[in-house]
Amino acid sequence: MTLFVIGKPVKHSLSPLIHNYWINKYELGLEYKKMEVEKELLPSLIENVRDRKITGLNITLPYKKDIISYIDEVSYSAKDIGAINTVFLRGNKVYGENTDGIGFTRALEKKTKFNFSNKSIYIIGAGGAAYGIISELIKKKVEKIYITNRTKQKTIQLVSFFKTRNKEINLEFVEWKNLTPNSDVDLIINTTSFGMKDNECLKIDINNLKDTLIFVDIIYNPKETELLKFFKKEGFVSMNGLSMLIEQASVSFELWFNISLNNKDIEEVKKICEASY
Ligand code: ATR
Repeated sequence: MTLFVIGKPVKHSLSPLIHNYWINKYELGLEYKKMEVEKELLPSLIENVRDRKITGLNITLPYKKDIISYIDEVSYSAKDIGAINTVFLRGNKVYGENTDGIGFTRALEKKTKFNFSNKSIYIIGAGGAAYGIISELIKKKVEKIYITNRTKQKTIQLVSFFKTRNKEINLEFVEWKNLTPNSDVDLIINTTSFGMKDNECLKIDINNLKDTLIFVDIIYNPKETELLKFFKKEGFVSMNGLSMLIEQASVSFELWFNISLNNKDIEEVKKICEASY
């Protein structure tokens, strides 16, 4: 029996390294592989899950939304996000869950003891990753979310997506032109892919920011984007996306095998990942 991360491209995925470490440690006698697939293959892969030929799937870009139409049952939170990253057979139904948002909040809580309730969060980007994170932030009862994105239409879509589900939520659209977070902001998250290429750096005005502000870039390769280096240099606590990647993987692993991973499992795999690139 095998598990796969499927997407296009998946060449650089660290998921096999992460899951195979835990699979071996807990002597599960399985293998986790990466598979680059075309969209047309998605239905047959889901059939393989149904027929117990595949134990579990992680779905990565660009299929997190497309896969939903082939799944029997989607978790409440994944339905709210409109995207899935974890698939397995639950009872006799192919079940889909999204562990990205919880991966993010767990990683930040562990690293900084950050308490989300009543905090103001400034989010850059309105793609799939932003949806997963925002859905979890709402559950954590944050005070306010500011959202900005290069393509205005996608920001408007995101705001209306969450507002139709939760009228109470304090979600404010911010123009992309001059990124100047207000002084009430406690946490800034870059959820865009901008920064993956060398020397790319967004310009953010930090003049109003409190000293206790935390900056997170969900990119983990490069280990430090130019933006993360900038915030670090200015003295702010910062975190890249590796811990989020490992935490979301641990939640998938728990769902597949009903094994709760501890901090040692997480830290061991983090060291291995860090040394691998
Ligand atoms: P994911 O599912 O990982 O979030 P995505 O849905 O493709 O990926 O979203 C990528 C995000 O990165 C979007 O917010 C995108 O902005 P647009 O909506 O304007 O495309 C953002 N992004 C990608 N390249 C960017 C760039 N060069 N400058 C600013 N934002 C960028």
